[in-house]
Amino acid sequence: MTAQETGTPEAGPETLRARALASLVTARTRTTLLTSCVEDPDLTAQVSPLMSPLVWDLAHIGNQEELWLLRAVGGREAMRPEIDGLYDAFEHPRSERPSLPLLAPEEARAYAAEVRGRVLDLLEGADFEGDRLTESGFAFGMIAQHEQQHDETMLITHQLRTGPQALTAPDPDPSPPFTGPAEVLVPGGPFTMGTSTEPWALDNERPAHVREVAPYWIDTTPVTNAAYQEFIEDGGYDTERWWSPEGWAHIRQHSVTAPLYWHRDGGQWLRRRFGVTEPVPPDEPVLHVSWYEADAYARWAGRRLPTEAEWEKAARHDPDTGRSRRFPWGDDDPTAAHANLGQRHLRPAPAGSYPAGESPYGVRQLIGDVWEWTSSDFLPYPGFTVFPYKEYSEVFFGPEYKVLRGGSFAVGQVACRGTFRNWDYPIRRQIFSGFRTARDAESA
Ligand code: AVJ
Ligand code: FE
Repeated sequence: MTAQETGTPEAGPETLRARALASLVTARTRTTLLTSCVEDPDLTAQVSPLMSPLVWDLAHIGNQEELWLLRAVGGREAMRPEIDGLYDAFEHPRSERPSLPLLAPEEARAYAAEVRGRVLDLLEGADFEGDRLTESGFAFGMIAQHEQQHDETMLITHQLRTGPQALTAPDPDPSPPFTGPAEVLVPGGPFTMGTSTEPWALDNERPAHVREVAPYWIDTTPVTNAAYQEFIEDGGYDTERWWSPEGWAHIRQHSVTAPLYWHRDGGQWLRRRFGVTEPVPPDEPVLHVSWYEADAYARWAGRRLPTEAEWEKAARHDPDTGRSRRFPWGDDDPTAAHANLGQRHLRPAPAGSYPAGESPYGVRQLIGDVWEWTSSDFLPYPGFTVFPYKEYSEVFFGPEYKVLRGGSFAVGQVACRGTFRNWDYPIRRQIFSGFRTARDAESA
């Protein structure tokens, strides 16, 4: 069997130009909101050693755009060669960035705006032909995704900040309590993982290849706060046998006893969310848990985390055609009816929301809401080649990172699809991370 995917028909230059423009504009609107909703001193502050000051993300967004669009695609000279080193993520770890001679907020804004003006001129005359970087507008798509990824990073920084609320957004529509089955069966057999046809897919999503998966059951929705509280109330954090040895050592050493941002007040769990303290909503997917916590919960529940391949088969495989889709619901781009994306809301939607977004097997909320931890290490697919730079993915391949799938409410649409891969250390939980569980099924 060859690796088969469905997809969208090839787009002409005017469609590509419009798509690139819309993606860049959407990302910049969000960047502007995230860097103007607090006073300038808050942009240079170090909120956490895990994060850059917001003003670093802002100038880094502009610098990557200059490097890839103006210099690599456009062949232009460097605008400010002396700042490249400051905004190279590999030269300076996040914890060091506040002490660098960074551009001040006003300078960073002016630099990013100047780059963007020149990029829009370049885009007007682009013919989207030539090499892999220009073909289908790849570099424009990559840079729009890069900006959206840093917008999510900046939203993580906002969530880490203490102090008054700076961001607001409407809540998701209330959803009737989910009454469908708790889990669905995905039959064993081959499916197509990864992509060779998605024009703006990044190197680690390629190429499409066939994977054999044994039959398994997977949760219909992400694990909820109510379910996770049962694990806590049952002494989950005090019971060594639910934990991997590394996970147990970590939670003991750091006194981890609940998801990040949770605290107990009398008999009630409260959480802090973007400057507001509120009761933990029982029907919402659990958020801000580490891989170690997800792994322990799953063992307590008599289950396990899905592998990355199991996650993707549940999300993309269409058993009627044998092909893999771009998204669980088909090949069309997400709408507000399909998934909670793009910081439209500042929280996940209740478990069971978005029936229009369910996959052929009936699995819900695979895209958006919370990033989902998988059991898999971050490894290259067979046939992987670096493109266009090894610091995006290749330098991170290996067993120290675990893969997350599906995207959160904080992921921009351009950086989200059924093949998109994210990764982080298993201790991390400042990210918008949750999970669902799985179990082996009997082979027929
Ligand atoms: C894919 C989210 C792990 O933020 O470190 C941003 C994305 N790469 N700039 C990260 C990224 C370069 C990356 N993650
Ligand atoms: Fe970056």
